[in-house]
Amino acid sequence: MNDEELLRLLDKLSTEQKVRLLTGATTWRTHAEPGVGLGEMVTSDGPAGVRGEAWDERETSALLPSASALAAMWDEPLVEELGGLLAREARRKGVHVVLAPTLNLHRSPVAGRHFECLSEDPELAGRTGAALVRGIQAHGVAATAKHYVANDSEAGRMTVDVRVAERTLREVYLAPFEAAVRAGAWAVMAGYNGVNGTTMTAHPLLARPLKDDWGFDGVVLSDWGAVRTTVDTATAGLDLVMPGPGGPWAEALLEAVRAGRVPLAAVDDKVIRILRLADRVGALDPARTPAAPVPPPVSTRRLLRRAAAAGTVLLSNDGLLPLAAAELGTVAVIGTHAVRPQVQGGGSAGVYPERIVTPMAGIRDHLRGRARVLHAPGPAVGAPPPPLDTSNCVDPRTGEAGVLVRLLDPEGRELHAEHRATGRQLEPPTPPGAHTVEVRALLIPTAPGAWTFGVGGFGRLTLTVDGRPVVDGDFPCRTDDPAVKHVTPPCQYGRAEIGGTEPVLVVARRELAPDTGRATVVTAAPPHPDPHEALAEAVETGRRADVAVVVVGTAEGAEAEGHDRSSLALPGHQDDLVTAVAAANRRTVVVVNAGAPVELPWRNAVAAVLLTWFPGQEAGGALADVLFGGTEPGGRLPTTWGARLDDAPVATTHPDQNTVAYAEGLHMGHRAWLRAGRSPAYWFGHGLGYTTWAYEGVEAPATVVAGDDFRVRVRLRNTGERSGREVVQLYLARPGSVVERPVRWLAGYTAVRAAPGETAEAVVRVPGRALRHWSTRAGSWRIEAGRFSVLAGRSAGDLPLATTVDVQEGYFSQPTVSGSGL
Ligand code: BGC
Repeated sequence: MNDEELLRLLDKLSTEQKVRLLTGATTWRTHAEPGVGLGEMVTSDGPAGVRGEAWDERETSALLPSASALAAMWDEPLVEELGGLLAREARRKGVHVVLAPTLNLHRSPVAGRHFECLSEDPELAGRTGAALVRGIQAHGVAATAKHYVANDSEAGRMTVDVRVAERTLREVYLAPFEAAVRAGAWAVMAGYNGVNGTTMTAHPLLARPLKDDWGFDGVVLSDWGAVRTTVDTATAGLDLVMPGPGGPWAEALLEAVRAGRVPLAAVDDKVIRILRLADRVGALDPARTPAAPVPPPVSTRRLLRRAAAAGTVLLSNDGLLPLAAAELGTVAVIGTHAVRPQVQGGGSAGVYPERIVTPMAGIRDHLRGRARVLHAPGPAVGAPPPPLDTSNCVDPRTGEAGVLVRLLDPEGRELHAEHRATGRQLEPPTPPGAHTVEVRALLIPTAPGAWTFGVGGFGRLTLTVDGRPVVDGDFPCRTDDPAVKHVTPPCQYGRAEIGGTEPVLVVARRELAPDTGRATVVTAAPPHPDPHEALAEAVETGRRADVAVVVVGTAEGAEAEGHDRSSLALPGHQDDLVTAVAAANRRTVVVVNAGAPVELPWRNAVAAVLLTWFPGQEAGGALADVLFGGTEPGGRLPTTWGARLDDAPVATTHPDQNTVAYAEGLHMGHRAWLRAGRSPAYWFGHGLGYTTWAYEGVEAPATVVAGDDFRVRVRLRNTGERSGREVVQLYLARPGSVVERPVRWLAGYTAVRAAPGETAEAVVRVPGRALRHWSTRAGSWRIEAGRFSVLAGRSAGDLPLATTVDVQEGYFSQPTVSGSGL
């Protein structure tokens, strides 16, 4: 519909009807307005998958690799294809608006949602985010660029005020949002945080640059529960308060409009945007239902497997990889993560995958009939006990694998009962009069001893094992963070001695008092094996094998929305495990399963290190493809990995008096390392393939006009013995600049492929904007005319080729005279 048609619809609405549209109807839906043919719009989280409206393990979703892995692909067509998968999932689940991509940056490795964000680099995050937006929206489903802006860590996230200079905002933190909006994003989510003293849902940045400079004509919706006031948010650029019903707009906004405190024109503009979004996603067209046929699982699995391999980064390799399956008699697969991988991070982006292919299963499948595959878990990894599930529990009523969930009235009478697959119940049904939710299961102990049981959630909690009380107490909810309250509430733990391996009855209850959140989580774990014995067994297993694959990673819940990490060390005894296995078997490959940087103190003592991130549901198949050379590991680091947390340019995100100062300014990520003249463990952009490359020549135009795009040609040769793909990266520098600059910055990249001995030419497009800087004084972009260095190579720290380009004054330019309005 064009704007005139939208205006005609607007004219049919009363002020009450208009204001009603500006707050959600439910947790995930917007209001319908049948009078103008407007249907409800359903929103659902991404970016790891599209969960749909229900937090229910029976409604599974395709689970993609984490966003950090998507950016590691440096491959926009593939990311676009994955966006298409998200859109198909959305259509299948009746979702109109996917709440992804997350475009905040990897400012600090400890940030809880690092895994859910793309990169430390604004250019890579912008290009990858834009590809995801295009991929999702090509199918008539809206993407949402979130969380606008500077919502880069979790500590104090509901209220923290980020102090950041205007130029840094424009050049670094706003840049990926600008890319997403210019790629046509139909929605933007305003974050919980504040910037320079104003909360984002009431911030002038919603008007400028978002709507005014970038021409964003979609809907700005609030993060869930971010809006607390009426007039300041309604007169800023915010269009839609989520979730609903009720909340700070609703009636209060109607009154404010009637009293003239919020102009009706502001309301009209918001409604037009909502109608435009509805038109784009088909919610104004009764003939179009968003439900679509289920994509065949085989092609989805194939794409997800390809994607997980494409994001996998080979950090080091002494030549052991790829493994030749034909030469192997015995392979040891070691580590708890080999059989219980972390396939996604925690928080609102979580989905229930249709299946999980573990590293162990992937390797075993690949070697079936060819080599023996041994497994040893090694010592416990220090993870919290996992939720009860079908692997260890039986529903006491039906005898089916899983648990029984019951809803009880105040007298303990059953109002509702159903069989479920997991003790993690985030949205149990609540029939009228429900007072208590109960999870009941027969646990089949794998070993006798002191088991740890946990019950998570807020309010009054009890847990008994064969009638013996294990947890009993009142745990009031003191957070208004919806992710913590409803998705990852704290657990209360207790121990119970279990005599044998006969089933024991576990009964956990939580009273459903107001304001205690929705989640009830029941967990159990056997006594830890003796760590020395477990280590010795793993070492022995590794020693006996032709090759040892040790899978290590972060613990369940460690990387999650709602809190930041305080350490980057691998939990438990995993470092000891790697060191000991590598000492016993020189042919040791370590697979790192983490969504964000971790410390790898043994990295130079092992034959190869592969980083799989949170690889999604097809983890194991993709790992086997990479290990055995069916696929070259495609990933390059989207973020610099330091050797130790203490080395990180931003090692803590703790607010000081509710404030976080981005004191490093433009010098974030690899730019900070370059500026300090220090070397990280692995540079931004680093990643090996299975061949080698010689960079032979670079050619840039002698002169370009400021503001124009230009092309740089890089000639390279495949000097190895296998065909391969190389990501050619281009950085700019400005020696003698009159404005402060990063030492160098990423300006463009492209991938080439070549067979052994062949040369390839990478043509890297450098957008005109790569040369601009923001002039705070002038309030506009400028390009400093003169000579820029152009550096080409394979990472921010490995740039063998250099040339220059002379930039002539053009539309954006200004003389290179200091003090001239910079
Ligand atoms: C998160 C958002 C998410 C929303 C809805 C918030 O807590 O910050 O990323 O989209 O919840 O689940």
